[in-house]
Amino acid sequence: MSQRVAEHKVLGAYESVVARATDDPEGFWLDAAQAIDWDVYPTSALDDSEAPLYRWFSDARLNTSYNALDRHVLAGRGDTTALIYDSPVVNKSKSYSYSQLLDKVARCAGMLADLGVVKGDRVVIYLPMIPQAVVAMLACARLGAVHSVVFGGFAAKELAARLDDAGAKVIITASGGIEPSRVVEYLPTIVEALALSAHTVETVIVKDRPEVPGAAAEHQGTDTRWIDWHSTMVDSAPHAPVSVAATDPLYILYTSGTTGSPKGVVRDNGGHTVAMVWSMTNIYDVHPGDVMWTASDVGWVVGHSYIVYGPLLAGATTVLYEGKPVGTPDAGAFWRVVSDYKVKTLFTSPTALRSIRKADPHASLAKNYDLSCLDALFLAGERLDPDTWTWATALLEKPVIDHWWQTETGWAICASPHGIEHLPLRAGSPSFPSPGYNVEIVDDAGLTVGVLDEGHIVIRLPLPPGTLATLWKGDQRYIDGYLSALPGYYLTGDSGYFDREGYLYVMGRTDDIINVAGHRLSTGSMEQVLSQHPFVAECAVIGLHDPIKGQKPAGYVVLKSDVVDADAEVLATELIAMVRGQIGAVAAFKDVTVVSALPKTRSGKILRKTMRQIINGEDYVVPPTIDNIEAISVIVATIRSSTPAGSVGFDTAARPPAQPAGKHHHSSPHKGVSP
Ligand code: COA
Ligand code: AMP
Repeated sequence: MSQRVAEHKVLGAYESVVARATDDPEGFWLDAAQAIDWDVYPTSALDDSEAPLYRWFSDARLNTSYNALDRHVLAGRGDTTALIYDSPVVNKSKSYSYSQLLDKVARCAGMLADLGVVKGDRVVIYLPMIPQAVVAMLACARLGAVHSVVFGGFAAKELAARLDDAGAKVIITASGGIEPSRVVEYLPTIVEALALSAHTVETVIVKDRPEVPGAAAEHQGTDTRWIDWHSTMVDSAPHAPVSVAATDPLYILYTSGTTGSPKGVVRDNGGHTVAMVWSMTNIYDVHPGDVMWTASDVGWVVGHSYIVYGPLLAGATTVLYEGKPVGTPDAGAFWRVVSDYKVKTLFTSPTALRSIRKADPHASLAKNYDLSCLDALFLAGERLDPDTWTWATALLEKPVIDHWWQTETGWAICASPHGIEHLPLRAGSPSFPSPGYNVEIVDDAGLTVGVLDEGHIVIRLPLPPGTLATLWKGDQRYIDGYLSALPGYYLTGDSGYFDREGYLYVMGRTDDIINVAGHRLSTGSMEQVLSQHPFVAECAVIGLHDPIKGQKPAGYVVLKSDVVDADAEVLATELIAMVRGQIGAVAAFKDVTVVSALPKTRSGKILRKTMRQIINGEDYVVPPTIDNIEAISVIVATIRSSTPAGSVGFDTAARPPAQPAGKHHHSSPHKGVSP
């Protein structure tokens, strides 16, 4: 039995499930595997022959798309609604039954097969939140092709990096997406990405949207052919599901790493299908015919797992919403969707709730809708602050369940297992480890810390089914980045602590990843862009606290010594445009401050953590290895010049005294040259 569970004895049904998953993982996951259809049934669950790279169900075969669609149709549930598309931005709503979705997916698979796509080929999907995104993903899965969905808010350079790394044979895209403030044309981005990419993509398939200019016919290249989604699909014959090994890759999803280059998280077919079905029942309590709405984007892991795969593998109805929490048209949009489609389970990000709350603090718009269908609200993607949890709980009078996970894990590391037992929830905590995850907290030396002591959150290997198999073309990068720091454990990159009753509290990242509006971004990649400017000698990008987005990036740049007459406003505008142009609008990079120095260690390492603490008004310690202590004064003075808030002291040896409540937060610095 898990030591932590045994120690605290708070748990009944959950406790016994955890005990089984811990004592007999083989039996536990083979039992879970019975919930899906296999072409070749697994005789064993865990394959540790290549540890520390573990594989699940390695002697089995299946098809994920068959499990998500055909299986339900063959069971007589073809008329059940599989997908509801709701788009306030084009004022459209459309439902697809399982039979209708199967037909579209099978014909899309036929189209891809006619283009030469076979098992193992990579297909990049760069689509807005339209049904074609779901169809394309499942069509790839049907062929055993590996999809890699790229979020529409990323710019051409990021797309090109993914095309190159994945070696994409085909891109599936649309003429564009619709943001409340503007139409986003995708095809210029595709053209630019193809030009930037060293790899040659054979075919670009374009879904022509009447609302956005651009069509395949306007873009014929010599190396790459462009074809139209609709006219090609019409002539395509449905394709049967292709049997793949459980360990074959289903998808690659790129996510921010600690270096500039994104890393491709590889998800397998078998472990993923088992984990999705298990989590739908046991974590979300969603069953065939129930309606689940995950208000995220298919470009993120949350969208992969709980807009597309989880609900469809479970035979539930999923909602695909092409809109925002506010502004499409108002802060009542979420409540409208819940009541229109009788949503049982809503899953979204804390940022989305905070933006609704800001626009409609008393949730008066919610009173216009019947929300009695709602069973629970799940939140993830970033820390759920207690204030937002309390607000949502009072509003809905339903469980508001924070759960913690990562692109790498694909499903919740910690959650309150709503389908197993309704455990008491605590503000600020995503509750307990999910069965299969052995979560521990260690200090810098890898030693277990005491209860309430904060440290690195690590997971004892093996990770359960459905978690990352490896990184694309990057076994060693996976081992070096996640598994080497503490042999036998997976390093999550998050810090946190357990309380006395075994609730986990996740406090933030220990690396240079920041979480902006639920979007995971690398400050390192933003620094790479800033340092390309001819005036910039060195720079640091720091995550500032933001009341709505959680964090927002702010750049601090030191100019080259021969740059004497730079206009700070002009420079800031240029740097902001560079980050938007190279990474994308999603980076939300809008603050730049020119400073005369950045604090560094004697070995030349910029003291980003110390800067972050000073800028966010937190307690900080200046490391004794600092080389240029005067640079600390520069940062402090920069903060002072931008806010009248209380003084910030520093001391090379000791932690400064804790500051009184209310004096800890400084507003973000204004653009300008520091004194
Ligand atoms: N295509 C193009 N641009 C996009 C985009 C897309 N798909 N999504 C966002 N952008 C743009 C926005 O228009 C905005 O541009 P602007 O600077 O010109 O205003 C910029 O990227 C920043 O967007 P964002 O910070 O996301 O704000 P938003 O108002 O567009 O959306 C939320 C707010 C809450 C809806 C959104 O941030 C969100 O859904 N966050 C949760 C993400 C998530 O689901 N994470 C996974 C865990 S649940
Ligand atoms: P992503 O890979 O984009 O899903 O981002 C994963 C990171 O988001 C985690 O490593 C955490 O830092 C953060 N995160 C996600 N969910 C939570 C949560 N419920 N509580 C705290 N942090 C979270």
